[in-house]
Formats: sequence, structure tokens, C-alpha cells
Amino acid sequence: MTVGPPASEADPGPTIETVGWVGSAQDGFVRLIDQTLLPGTFVRIDCRDVEQVWEAIKMLRVRGAPAIGIAAAFGALLGARARGTESVDSVRAALLEASARLRTSRPTAVNLFWALDRMDRAVEAEAPRASDPHALLDRLLAEARAIQDEDRAMCRSIGRFGADLLGPGQGVLTHCNAGGLATADYGTALAVIFSAAEQGKSVHVFADETRPLLQGARLTAWELQRRGIPVTLICDNMAAQVMKEGRVQAVVVGADRIAANGDTANKIGTYSVALAARAHDIPFYVAAPSSTFDLSLTDGSAIPIEQRDPREITHGFGLATAPEGIQVYNPAFDVTPASLITALITERGVIRPVGREAIREAIGP
Ligand code: MRU
Repeated sequence: MTVGPPASEADPGPTIETVGWVGSAQDGFVRLIDQTLLPGTFVRIDCRDVEQVWEAIKMLRVRGAPAIGIAAAFGALLGARARGTESVDSVRAALLEASARLRTSRPTAVNLFWALDRMDRAVEAEAPRASDPHALLDRLLAEARAIQDEDRAMCRSIGRFGADLLGPGQGVLTHCNAGGLATADYGTALAVIFSAAEQGKSVHVFADETRPLLQGARLTAWELQRRGIPVTLICDNMAAQVMKEGRVQAVVVGADRIAANGDTANKIGTYSVALAARAHDIPFYVAAPSSTFDLSLTDGSAIPIEQRDPREITHGFGLATAPEGIQVYNPAFDVTPASLITALITERGVIRPVGREAIREAIGP
């Protein structure tokens, strides 16, 4: 038997469902694009239990803060059926157990916890007055779908607000992937670029390849190319030089967690891009939905930073690129201080200048 990469499915076109639910609450499952195989292979995988969703999040098959939250919400629903569906109590207990498990998959993107909090609240609110466990499952599916639908709407709105900040013909640098693949659809940072392009502004994107897992090269370049937006791929260590050469007039990135003062965790390397942008007097924008803000954290120093497997650096994509036994440090995210961020682009509008008061006013309860 020959074992090779799975055969690519037909590419469904520009609008793709990164992660979704197939079937009814009673017997449905989670379907998601396996992003570890892109751009070479387009394959969707079906997850039928919590462990499969946990693994998909952990291994970055589904990734990007909002998409992780959506996957977890659907995953919690899968878990809600794990103890049988004979009683409301067993559905409630199983959902809470699944939610607790999914919270351990990745620590930095607050959207994961935000989405699971919503699922927990939904089951706690509905269970006491539900007599039918099947109706309770239907209600939980409605909540997970609402999380997905709201994200889709927030991304469109971010795109509209952000596009006004870009001028015609500008070079725009982005880091990692904050596109449709990282959200329900359309993206956050890439939404700004898509929206500007739809307005006829003909922007040119410089995509950092984003070591070590190459989300920029594999995913952002793929998304932009298939939408016909001009894109030039650069290595991460070229960003400052490209800025110095005058090729970039704005930077737009996504976020995994934004603290109450605006300090922003995003893919490792974002902080260096922000420093380079400041040195070249280039505006640095962070695009993110309200679900990415964590107002319980005073500043970015309390944001938990995920540490990942050293082999992502020493054996990226299967090739040994460092001597055996070498010490490695592999934080997956860094925190860009609010002072380096020109504006936060949210679905509720543009926050500028970035500061505690303005954030509380726009995002707070
Ligand atoms: O490790 P990843 O690929 O999940 O990291 C993703 C990012 O850092 C994105 O920029 C962020 O989640 C925003 S996605 C809209």
C-alpha cells in the first residue's frame, strides 16, 4: 500500500468555510479545512469527538484566534453528546467537561475562552428550564452558529472601517495569516486589504513568510493570490529593508489577545515589525473583533504566551535544519506595546489613539 498526502479536493472558490458544522445537533459533526496541508493540498477533515477538535486546534489544522473560538464552540457541542443524550443533566455535565478540555488546547488567543464561556453560559442558562435534552442540544448548536455568524459580520465591518485607512496604490505589509482561514470568513487584517481592493484602491501586499510555521507564505499568500490581489512574499528578516526602500506605506496585522491598555499579542515577529514601522514612520494597524479584547488584563505583561515544540524550528516540515540536541526557544506569540500601535480597527470602529479610555468606551460593557 502506498501512503501519500491526501488527494486535494476541488477548491471551492474565494469564499470558503474555514470551519463549520454539518448536520443536526443530534448527529452532526465539525468539518474544517486542514490548514497544515495548504497550499499544496486542499482537504477538509471531519471531527466527530472532542479529542479530534482538541488535536486540530493544538496542531494548527484550524488556527487564527476567531477560527479557534468557532471550532471550540462546535467542539463543545460534540462533547455535549459524549455521556449520552438521555437526560438534560448529562448533556449539561458533558458540555462543561468538553469545554474544560478544549480550554487546554492553546493558551494565547482569548477568542477560544470567550467562545467557550458563551457555550458554558448557554448550557447553564438553558439546562434548568429544559425538559428535553435534544432541545438543549439544538439550543447549543444555535449558540455555536451565532458565534460563527457574528464573526462573519464582524470581519466585514472591520474590512469597511479599515479600508478607509489605506490609500490607492499603497504597499501594505502583513505578518502571519489574519485572513478568511483565521476567521469564519474574510479575515481581520486581510479583510482591510480585501475591502480596499473591492473599493478599487489597488493595494500591493508584502506578506512576511512568518517563521517557523510559514502561515504568511502558505496561507496569506494563497488567500491573496486566489482573490487576485498583488502580493510579494518576503522572509521575515526582510521587512525593515522593504520599509527602508519605501515600498510599504502601512502595516496591518491581526491579534490573538488585546489587553485593556491596547498591548497586543500576535504571532511571534509582530513586535519586530512594529518597531521597524515606527523607525520608518509607517502607520502600524491592528485589526481585530471585540472578541479578541481581554479587558480583564491591565496590560500585555499578563498575556499567556504559548511555547511550542522545538522541532517546529529544528525540523520544520520534516527537514533537519539544526544540529541534533541544540537548545531552542520557541514562543508562538509576542506582545506589541500599545505605544507602537497607530490604531485598532474593530467592528465597532477605529480606536485612535490607542489607550485605556478609548478602548473601554468602544469595547467595554
Ligand atoms: O499560531 P496561529 O497561526 O494561530 O497564529 C495566528 C495569528 O497570530 C493571527 O495573526 C491572529 O490569530 C489573528 S487571526 C484573525
